[in-house]
Amino acid sequence: MNPALSIALLLTGLQVAGGQKVTSLTACLEDQSLRLDCRHENTTTVPMQIEFSLTRDAKKHVLFGTIPEHTYRSRTNLTNRSTLKVLYLSGFTSRDEGLYTCELYLPGQPPTYSNRNVSVLRDKLVKCRGVGLLAQDASWLLLLLLSLPLLQAMDFVSL
Ligand SMILES: *[C@@H]1O[C@H](CO)[C@@H](O)[C@H](O)[C@H]1NC(C)=O
Ligand SMILES: *[C@@H]1O[C@H](CO)[C@@H](O)[C@H](O)[C@H]1NC(C)=O
Ligand SMILES: *[C@@H]1O[C@H](CO)[C@@H](O)[C@H](O)[C@H]1NC(C)=O
Ligand SMILES: *[C@@H]1O[C@H](CO)[C@@H](O)[C@H](O)[C@H]1NC(C)=O
Repeated sequence: MNPALSIALLLTGLQVAGGQKVTSLTACLEDQSLRLDCRHENTTTVPMQIEFSLTRDAKKHVLFGTIPEHTYRSRTNLTNRSTLKVLYLSGFTSRDEGLYTCELYLPGQPPTYSNRNVSVLRDKLVKCRGVGLLAQDASWLLLLLLSLPLLQAMDFVSL
């Protein structure tokens, strides 16, 4: 590739990546599965990739990403929303304890743009509240609907 073009691409990548940032990573237990909720910004159309990994005993295991580890591939599934990625790891045991990371990266360009960590210990793991994603989304919608009249009253929204 033309070097000037690569630099231009790199720069565009760096600029637009500003709109994509991991904002939170939380872990909870749902049935026997570990559920990781990774929330991120996505205000650009750059095809950012997401990677979930586990660091245990100073070794990094990729659970979901470009090259997931074979042993985890069959145990995970990902729910993809525009600003929320939910990863399930089935059959969670104390052997899956460690530091979990969710990170955003541009394909083929190493350093990570943004990441968040959550430390997972079996005894400290909370049960997931609500009945999965739908219930959560519904409560946000409800909150939004409830706050609309308030916002209107405060003249924030003029309908
Ligand atoms: C952000 O949205 C664009 C399309 O609008 C998509 O191509 C990209 O994969 C999304 N990023 C993530 C991390 O889901
Ligand atoms: C999530 O969906 C978007 C849009 O359909 C796609 O561009 C992106 O690659 C997907 N991300 C993952 C991690 O599957
Ligand atoms: C993903 O895994 C979880 C727990 O193992 C399960 O409850 C859920 O139905 C799975 N979702 C899909 C789309 O396979
Ligand atoms: C997450 O952990 C990695 C490895 O320990 C570290 O390099 C990174 O800065 C951490 N990220 C945050 C947001 O603390």
